[in-house]
Amino acid sequence: MVVNESIKTAVAGEKNMALQRHPAWQALARHCETLRTRQLRELFADDPGRAERFQLEAAGLFLDYSKQRMTGETMALLFGLARQTGVESRREAMFAGEKINVTENRSVLHVALRAARTDTYTADGHNVVPEVHQVLDRMATFANRVRSGEWKGYTGEPIRNVINIGIGGSDLGPVMAYEALRHYSRRDMTFRFVSNIDGTDFAEAVNGLVPAQTLFIVSSKTFTTLETMTNAHSARDWLLRAAKDPAHTARHFVAVSTNAQAVRAFGIDTQNMFGFWDWVGGRYSMDSAIGLSTMLAVGPENFTRLLAGFRAMDHHFRTAPLEKNMPVIMGLLAVWYNNFFGSQTVAVLPYDQYLKRFPAYLQQLTMESNGKSITLDGQRVDYQTGPIYWGEPGTNGQHSFYQLIHQGTKLIPCDFIGFCRSLNPLGQHHDLLMANVFAQAEALAFGKTAAEVKAEGTPDWLVPHRIFEGNRPSNVILADVLTPEVLGSLVALYEHSVFTQGAIFGIDSFDQWGVELGKVLAKRIGEELFAPTDSGLTHDASTNALIRRYRQARA
Ligand code: F6P
Repeated sequence: MVVNESIKTAVAGEKNMALQRHPAWQALARHCETLRTRQLRELFADDPGRAERFQLEAAGLFLDYSKQRMTGETMALLFGLARQTGVESRREAMFAGEKINVTENRSVLHVALRAARTDTYTADGHNVVPEVHQVLDRMATFANRVRSGEWKGYTGEPIRNVINIGIGGSDLGPVMAYEALRHYSRRDMTFRFVSNIDGTDFAEAVNGLVPAQTLFIVSSKTFTTLETMTNAHSARDWLLRAAKDPAHTARHFVAVSTNAQAVRAFGIDTQNMFGFWDWVGGRYSMDSAIGLSTMLAVGPENFTRLLAGFRAMDHHFRTAPLEKNMPVIMGLLAVWYNNFFGSQTVAVLPYDQYLKRFPAYLQQLTMESNGKSITLDGQRVDYQTGPIYWGEPGTNGQHSFYQLIHQGTKLIPCDFIGFCRSLNPLGQHHDLLMANVFAQAEALAFGKTAAEVKAEGTPDWLVPHRIFEGNRPSNVILADVLTPEVLGSLVALYEHSVFTQGAIFGIDSFDQWGVELGKVLAKRIGEELFAPTDSGLTHDASTNALIRRYRQARA
């Protein structure tokens, strides 16, 4: 593997000392001791301007971070840490197309996917923006043909059903975006998504669909992923059981990939392939051709609006000073709890049913990016890296795991996401929904004291159970209404927050070597499962026994 030495050396130079021994880090550690016992109640009482001071607007989003356990001094120290660890220069290196993904020797240019036609982003010495727009234009032409009924299946009927086959970044973004923008989508068409190699996923996805009206998008950056290729072959078999003639696949299969050769080998005409580039990571690809299903659902115009939202947040991230930079602030606060308060997780709680897959999408974005333990210069970290992101739409979560967030022993910073207007106004529903956002953030921060509980007439023995300690931090992110632009801004906000965290940790947020070993072993074991029952196995005793048991049951 060729490693870009200049980037590696530059980054190692910036981090010329281990993160924990860095003066900015040590200052934060000392500061944290003084702040640990301070209550949000006090911080608000001491500073009447706090709510106004710790809020920010950018790219259609409003962030209230005043209910975080920090002061102006904390933020100043965090901004110092960001500066001293080179967040700004690394950000510029990304936008400049430098190969900051050092272990794969690649540029990281997902920001180019949403560039305006007149923008310039350079990878390997050439401006990639014209190619990006060429693909977007082809996607739009194709989407219009399918949506208008001009693109026909093998019987001459128009396409009514679209199934995206992909996994990881080639699935989670498309599913999330489809669900999030369902309000803007074609209701007379069916959109489904197959990711799991479990045959149930495929069987349920095609259940009730007419092959002659069904289009498969095989989405895979590499076009080698076992799950996706297995599902793609099953899809072809399913189609051909009805269509008979293999020539008919051309009307029912398109591919999204960087691997034209493998697409051709599968039997898809590369005329019907939509490309992207190795400088787009899978989990950063929902706004590339991987978003073809999104474009088919909501139309090219709404897809363009989505890209505009991403672009607005990119611009903000690149140009706003750290002190006014929303993704930077969110990333720094994540580091604050992860590394100084020992929090292991961040809960993301969207109060909008359309965002029901947003937490699942964020899991890959955050954890495949920052779930690393080796620094850019090859050292084992001696500090925590990426926190676990998880969540569920409100208010459902309130009746499930919020008990632990309010009264459990763990400190779980929360991101609440809400909208001032609903896309489906219905009586009092939206006001009640939003009342819950504000109530939860308030309850977490300020709790309820023993005196308050007693004053309600609670018997003494029950008082401890009904106390809410409070002092539990949260962000509240608000937007006017869930538009394609807002969705783009929101995703880019988290992308750049992840970037900020990764830059501070000094890790490569853009590779994913941790998925390789399992893939290799599964391939080997997959072959062994078919071998004769008594043939030898050389795994550990536990794995050998499990394989033998399965072989016997299968036989
Ligand atoms: O799980 C690892 C991974 O490589 C992800 O990073 C990626 O999003 C997913 O697999 C799918 O990969 P592909 O798009 O190449 O099929």
